[in-house]
Amino acid sequence: MNITDQINKRKTFGIISHPDAGKTTLTEKLLLFGGAIKEAGAVKSSKIDRHATSDFMEIEKQRGISVATSVMGFEYNGKKINLLDTPGHQDFAEDTYRTLTAVDSVILVVDCVKGVEIQTEKLMEVCRMRNTPVMVFINKLDREGRDPYDLLDEIEEKLNIKVRPMSWPIGMGKSFKGVYSLYSESLILFKGSQTKLTGDTVEIKNLEDPRLEKEIGELPTAQLQEDVELISGGYDPFDRETYLSGEVAPVFFGSAVNNFGVKELLDCFIDIAPQPRARQTELKTIEPSEKDFSGFVFKIHANMDPKHRNRIAFLRVCSGKFERTHPYKHQRMNKNLKFSNATAFMAQDKEIIDEAWPGDIVGLFDTGNLKIGDTLGVKDIGNFKGIPSFSPEIFKEVINKDAMKTKQLDKGLKQLMDEGVAQLFTFEMGARRVVGTVGALQFEVIQHRLKHEYNATCDFVGTSLYKACWISSKDKKKLNEFIDSKYRHIAQDKDGKWVFMAETKSWLQMVMDNYPDIEFHFTSEF
Ligand code: G4P
Repeated sequence: MNITDQINKRKTFGIISHPDAGKTTLTEKLLLFGGAIKEAGAVKSSKIDRHATSDFMEIEKQRGISVATSVMGFEYNGKKINLLDTPGHQDFAEDTYRTLTAVDSVILVVDCVKGVEIQTEKLMEVCRMRNTPVMVFINKLDREGRDPYDLLDEIEEKLNIKVRPMSWPIGMGKSFKGVYSLYSESLILFKGSQTKLTGDTVEIKNLEDPRLEKEIGELPTAQLQEDVELISGGYDPFDRETYLSGEVAPVFFGSAVNNFGVKELLDCFIDIAPQPRARQTELKTIEPSEKDFSGFVFKIHANMDPKHRNRIAFLRVCSGKFERTHPYKHQRMNKNLKFSNATAFMAQDKEIIDEAWPGDIVGLFDTGNLKIGDTLGVKDIGNFKGIPSFSPEIFKEVINKDAMKTKQLDKGLKQLMDEGVAQLFTFEMGARRVVGTVGALQFEVIQHRLKHEYNATCDFVGTSLYKACWISSKDKKKLNEFIDSKYRHIAQDKDGKWVFMAETKSWLQMVMDNYPDIEFHFTSEF
């Protein structure tokens, strides 16, 4: 198989949802269809129990388990599918944002009872930044949920994306009879079974077909006919290009736990989801079909074995063929590295691989050379763009508790930040260090890991910070003047970029108004 065939064969995607909407269940069902697992229940262990929020040791344990299921590769209908798991726990949202940089498309799960929830909105904002193509699966149709039209309106409104129904539910909850697939023009009857892999399918190209009434009854038939007419009048016909450009999201209805509607989703996904596409580095556009290998690190998982400080870096292949033991240039360090035990992820197994292709995720064992966002390649290509840091939500100052262990603390903090556990901001004034996170849990994780892995102890003291804003200006002089005049509020991030640390929303607004030549950004990439 040549490189074009390999690229055409691959679909790399992530499933996102608000916790409890059914992401884990859908993942599992997709793996069942792909034959990658044999029984339900196998993926549950990857889920971090959000009820155990105070028990971070338990979460660390679960995170350890979840590494095995963070990338699941399987074959379906001649395609190689790479499914990237995203932690549902909101305290690990930053992890999820980064994982989304490594996928080519996304399936969003929405609970039909709850509709669009807050975490869904945040995750979709990240997808919108990169125009990632999105398919929507409205789940739990076996429950009395909201009106399907309302749900679609809410998705369009809150998620700022147009929708196109690809299937339509017939009833809901107790009266749920199945879905009509507008994509394959067939009726799929709901027989409520968690063991059977799919519902009974009746091919009905014409909704006037008398078999329809026989299958679902008179009233539901009339309702379906009306709905389908309304849909064709109210929504533009499905157009793959608008899906690929991230403007329109095709929508499916189903019930993951009952294996219902999942096959229709997967069959359509196989047809329409994008294969690996070109990506941009600081210097150039890289097509996946380029001969030379390139890829970037989007996730690092440490603590695989507490006795050895080994970490596994997740690398997304962007172009060419990755070959084990071939030396590749680490762009940031300008140095060649070789990875003799690179692994691939197939469902729950990890295995040493000799080669990988664009779209694949490779696990690289690392002793501390790699950090998130690092690019590997054959020649000088610069770093891949599109792996930004976002302004954290919670900021705490680091206080060293043992002056004799300053070196250990510095090293530990640096390595944990390289892994993306949190973000470190070092103030210009007094070398004050502030750690920023999305969730409160990370502070406990950091303290615990500093103590056990680096033998360092620190306290975290609350600050009154509101946002970290990366700053830039077309006028270098004006930027320097701003930094000088606000030096008490200026810090550097882990890469030495200038950041303005705002204390309140209103004050930030005032500063923005007073300094029109300075641009304030809520992400590190602009
Ligand atoms: P998440 O990963 O998005 O957090 O959600 P997960 O798949 O774990 O699903 C959350 C709950 O919703 C689970 O119930 C799951 O069984 C249920 N669920 C998933 N799909 C459907 C569906 O189509 N219909 C209905 N009625 N329920 C669904 P749980 O009680 O929290 O867990 P469990 O005891 O079933 O494992």
